[in-house]
Amino acid sequence: GSFEVNLKKLLDENISPEGQELINIVGKWASQLGMRVFLVGGIVRDLLLGQKQKDLDIVVEGDALVLAQEVGKTLSAIKFIPHERFKTASIILKNGQKIDFSTSRVEFYQHPAALPDVEVSTIREDLYRRDFTINSMAIEITYGHIGELFDPFGGLLDLKEGIIRVLHNLSFVEDPTRILRALRFLGRFNFKLEENTEKLLIDAIAGGFLNLASPARILYELKLIFTEKDILKILKFLKHYGIFQEVFPKASYEEDFLKRYFNYTVEYLRLLKETKISWLHGVMGVYAKNLEGIEEFIKKYPLTGEEEEVLRQGASGIDEALILLSLPREVKGQEIFETLTKLPPEGYWALYLLLDRFRARERFKKYFEELRFIKPEITGEDLKALGLKPGPLYREILHKIKMLKIDGVLKNKDEEILYVKQNYF
Ligand code: CTP
Repeated sequence: GSFEVNLKKLLDENISPEGQELINIVGKWASQLGMRVFLVGGIVRDLLLGQKQKDLDIVVEGDALVLAQEVGKTLSAIKFIPHERFKTASIILKNGQKIDFSTSRVEFYQHPAALPDVEVSTIREDLYRRDFTINSMAIEITYGHIGELFDPFGGLLDLKEGIIRVLHNLSFVEDPTRILRALRFLGRFNFKLEENTEKLLIDAIAGGFLNLASPARILYELKLIFTEKDILKILKFLKHYGIFQEVFPKASYEEDFLKRYFNYTVEYLRLLKETKISWLHGVMGVYAKNLEGIEEFIKKYPLTGEEEEVLRQGASGIDEALILLSLPREVKGQEIFETLTKLPPEGYWALYLLLDRFRARERFKKYFEELRFIKPEITGEDLKALGLKPGPLYREILHKIKMLKIDGVLKNKDEEILYVKQNYF
């Protein structure tokens, strides 16, 4: 049964003033239209965990299109996007924020194109079709009922005890991507799988159900895995349940190596002045120990041409860079520059993970801290003033000067100008 819990205070404290204003307007309109309206899914879970919130996911017992339209009018939304067939609608506010409304329904569709009209249902049924108890709670926001928790499947208790539990025995079979979702939540929250849920997960894997999910949906889940804080932990779970090779064909799982995912991230991001590892970085990293394997990944998943290109380019450039950076002999700045500049950014992460020797790491650092910022002081304007005709030669000269600067041969603008005069006239 549901708990007698009121979360008004939690909403007040954790949702922005604009969010609360929005909730009030939605709630008032719903009550005026005789509908009930709820926040559902991840936002409820995260609120209860005291975590900061992203998007509002709204479910309506009633016609979501009608409610969305009224709310949109009241807030002078710049866009109203209805999906008659799925009884969902989105509005986009003036500040760019997007709010999704859906009518409570029975199916969780995997192939929207193949679906008949949705079957409208109660909020309870809407929650029942979801993945885990912790994601199957709702907070009512109908005016007069704001903050009432609706928790028919014991999500709050599982959340408190740190348990991932499916709502029914066919959950992983109906939607095999939930196998990956389960492992992702385990890793993110440091939770445990409830006993029967673990058995169902193992059975679904043994039954080959993960292969039945479309590669596009699996890829979507993999992308999400690489946005998590502790990627290693999730990779460990993939290995533990025997699906690491299935989702990353031909990648080799070497735990000591993959630990670097965790140990190196902060230093790497600081060095590159980036804020996070993108999913393509992640894929490159997973394949770092077997770069040829990346072709299998490309074959398996529907990537864009650009993504394929990045992975291929990364894979082919890393070996060369690795060798150069590890050479025992003196290596010129120019050599480092020319080798590293060819790699796509996604390749740097895999390369960084592979660097074992201090010398190689120092060279890698040198590129990111110094070499990549070095530029000639003279410009095209200067070349023009010297009397050189504008053309492709300019690029060549400027590149040459940059290389000489990188190697410390040219030290200032005067020397650069002198160099041009001596070599190009
Ligand atoms: N959901 C589900 N089965 C899936 C995907 C989603 O039942 N395969 C349901 C869950 O109730 C989930 C909600 O849809 O809470 C929203 O999905 P999504 O935004 O993908 O996940 P969140 O739970 O919000 O998780 P995250 O914090 O990772 O965004």
